[in-house]
Amino acid sequence: MIKSIIRPYLLNLTPYSSARDEYSGKEGVFLDANENPFGSVSGGKLNRYPDPYQWEIKNKLSSLKGAQPEQIFLGNGSDEAIDLLIKAVCEPHIDNIVILPPTYGMYKVCADIQQVKVKSAILNSEFKLDLEAVYAQADEHTKMIWICSPNNPSGNLIESFKIESLLEKYPNKLIIVDEAYIDFADQNSFISKLDKYENLVVLQTFSKAWGMAGLRVGMAYANSELITVLNKIKYPYNLNLLSQKMILKALENVNTKDKYVEKIKAERFKLFKNLIELSIVRHIFPSDSNQLLVKFKNAKEVFLYLLDQKIIVRDRTNVVLCEDCIRISVGTASENSKLIKALQNYK
Ligand SMILES: Cc1ncc(COP(=O)(O)O)c(C=O)c1O
Repeated sequence: MIKSIIRPYLLNLTPYSSARDEYSGKEGVFLDANENPFGSVSGGKLNRYPDPYQWEIKNKLSSLKGAQPEQIFLGNGSDEAIDLLIKAVCEPHIDNIVILPPTYGMYKVCADIQQVKVKSAILNSEFKLDLEAVYAQADEHTKMIWICSPNNPSGNLIESFKIESLLEKYPNKLIIVDEAYIDFADQNSFISKLDKYENLVVLQTFSKAWGMAGLRVGMAYANSELITVLNKIKYPYNLNLLSQKMILKALENVNTKDKYVEKIKAERFKLFKNLIELSIVRHIFPSDSNQLLVKFKNAKEVFLYLLDQKIIVRDRTNVVLCEDCIRISVGTASENSKLIKALQNYK
């Protein structure tokens, strides 16, 4: 049934067959991939191509996350997964996607690049999912509904029962739950529901709680048939050898990630308390994430003032429902106190 969502011609597409597709062992005389057998100019043994399917990482992630290795796709950031998912299911000029603004910008950008129409079901004023708005937008050509939970830029989780109701109502559309910030929330991942819903895709990333944004590694968890298609259309060696090594190292240290999460949550609490005391702050939206969406009396001016102080926050004033809002990422104790001091000195 998931096959009916995938663009038909991709099902029969013959993908590039890489040299390392034919033999997955580590031992042997490798004369198959036109590599330099002597070494790397940089040092660091980078002369061999990496595993195109990253099985060692997927096996580790499988026990950590409770998904089968075949249900996992790894990409150059979850941004790669976003792009490939749209390519995998949407016919340009014919199909459309539904997004829930205000939300992460790349869903629309990737759709625009593919010339896939984007329909908006705007969240309500508390940034909650408005089911009626989704029903009003979704039509027979809607192939995917993108839900960011916890949402960027508002920071809140989207109610699970609403996500489930969409999964049930639209078995022939992909429901994508982007969990880039799930580690900061007190809620389980939707990964546990993969076997229940064929149309579910969960995105996660090593860029946030894991502190590895510079490495560019993200994940999609989905039905194995869909993952097979993503593997067909990705670049052959989309995750470089250094990234693969570092991810394997990180997966040996899950406790460190958990400690970072606790630290960031504690800082989020302190930052919230300090910000709300400022007279220029009108409101702070509740956050299950590592970001606070803050409504100021005059956000544009505050933003420019902070920039002048070399404190860089994200101006969201032109984003729907975010009038006079600045998005602030939770920093270290000293970064946050620099921000608060600067805001105390404003005007
Ligand atoms: C909701 C959301 N999804 C995905 C991403 C992209 O993450 P990655 O660094 O894995 O490409 C971001 C980055 O800010 C994000 O906010």
